[in-house]
Amino acid sequence: MLRLGTPHDAVSRWRRRAILRLGFVGAVGLAATEMTALVAPFIRVNRIEGLGNPVAVGTKAQVLGLFSATNDRPILFREGRFFLLHPPGGIIAAYRKCTHLGCAVPWSDSEDRFHCPCHGSEYDKRTAVVLKNPAPKPLQLFHITENTEGELIVDTNPLRVIDRTKDDWDPSVIEIAVT
Ligand code: FES
Repeated sequence: MLRLGTPHDAVSRWRRRAILRLGFVGAVGLAATEMTALVAPFIRVNRIEGLGNPVAVGTKAQVLGLFSATNDRPILFREGRFFLLHPPGGIIAAYRKCTHLGCAVPWSDSEDRFHCPCHGSEYDKRTAVVLKNPAPKPLQLFHITENTEGELIVDTNPLRVIDRTKDDWDPSVIEIAVT
């Protein structure tokens, strides 16, 4: 015989459904919060800020003067997020974004190399090729030109980088040659 539910049964069923729905929404919210917490540091590090503009870094002679006074210590341009480096035969500009997961790579005076704080990758002082993994390839390079006044201009557009896929020094990437 068909048994009709009482109004009390209907209310219980409605309550159960409401509790289940609440639980589901809560679980989704929790998962979203955890995902955000997980990726937020990388989003913050990768945020493009101050990039994309041409940056004047001085004349060749001025840059070389600084290198010779500091035993070729990389020269940081914080706003443009790059270092000027002094490989054999030229001047290059290395984008300081780690090629592993994108952390900003600092120079370490005590180690005389770049050392990424996130997962320990290390890069060479003069060429920015990888000395220690997990970085899969050298730091990317920004293009440099010399204007009619002899000033070096670094193009910090991250979409126009020189991407070196092999992990050894290739002098053909040098755009500003020095003798
Ligand atoms: S982001 Fe630099 S080593 Fe992982």
